[in-house]
Amino acid sequence: MSLLEATPELDLVVWPDDRSCDRTWLLGNIPGSTGLVVMLTEKVDSEILDRAGPSLKVVSTMSVGYEHIDLRAAAQRGLRVGYTPDVLTDAVADLSVMLALMTSRNAGIAMAVAKDGQWPNHPWSPFALCGPQLSTMASSPARKAGFLGFGRIAQATLARLVSFGITHCLYSSNPSSPTNHERDAELAKRYNLQSVTKVDIDELARESDFIFVLAPGGHDTYHIINENFLKQMRRTSILINASRGTLVDSDALARALREGWIWGAGLDVVEGEPNVTLDHPLVKEPRCIILPHIGSATLETRRAMAVRAAQNVIAGVLGGNMPAEVDLSGYR
Ligand code: GLV
Ligand code: GLV
Repeated sequence: MSLLEATPELDLVVWPDDRSCDRTWLLGNIPGSTGLVVMLTEKVDSEILDRAGPSLKVVSTMSVGYEHIDLRAAAQRGLRVGYTPDVLTDAVADLSVMLALMTSRNAGIAMAVAKDGQWPNHPWSPFALCGPQLSTMASSPARKAGFLGFGRIAQATLARLVSFGITHCLYSSNPSSPTNHERDAELAKRYNLQSVTKVDIDELARESDFIFVLAPGGHDTYHIINENFLKQMRRTSILINASRGTLVDSDALARALREGWIWGAGLDVVEGEPNVTLDHPLVKEPRCIILPHIGSATLETRRAMAVRAAQNVIAGVLGGNMPAEVDLSGYR
């Protein structure tokens, strides 16, 4: 029995499908609700909140990202908002490293060769399907890992990259948050890195061999990876995005790949998803790995996210402490 079913105070109305909830259904069923559980695919705006009416106390999303929820509108109505950080950190960090490896090793093209029956036309040859190596060889210069956004997931990704011989970590994050020298020194010591350095976004673009975009979506980061950023990257560098598609200008990235400004890109998210079809400029790029937003898609993690989302809504409805509550103080 699920946690929600086991809570006698709750009277549940459940969208019956295993895909994103139909908005008309939601609008029709939400009036008079006390709590709302959503996925990142449901846009929660004033219309939804007004339709719920004054009974609504809490919105709980089964995701770490919450840019699909209008936080200002929620705060103005005195609502609490729950989300699911921490439980998905490892899964998304795993996937970020996987994307870096898949991209640098041409896994997309290589797999198509084997699974489309093309192997006989592509026999082993010295430089076929070669790409830049993530792990550092004694003879090659140390690889620098760059992070746009340096929260839990970025730091967990860094921890994994240490075993690939990364020695320098650069990161760029919200300009208004103060540099945490103590934390950076502690990370460098813990992972035996030569440096962990906060840099501005241009230096991040110029200096990194692999750039991991792991920052929140929303207005502040919209198209932060644009033509200007991509033109500053090295021709041998790789861009990874496992956060939100809106951070990357897809047209600029397609051009960067087509014209060889960068070596490749690995994306778990694309702006406008899931409407990414064969005519999308990035789908056509051979050096672009695209996965359909599976960052947290392990059985263990999705179960933990569901439990966390249920705990959050129960606490919100019954008035207890939520395991993970979004800080809305800036919106009140
Ligand atoms: C996934 O993208 C999430 O925000 O949980
Ligand atoms: C983002 O919320 C993170 O955990 O990095």
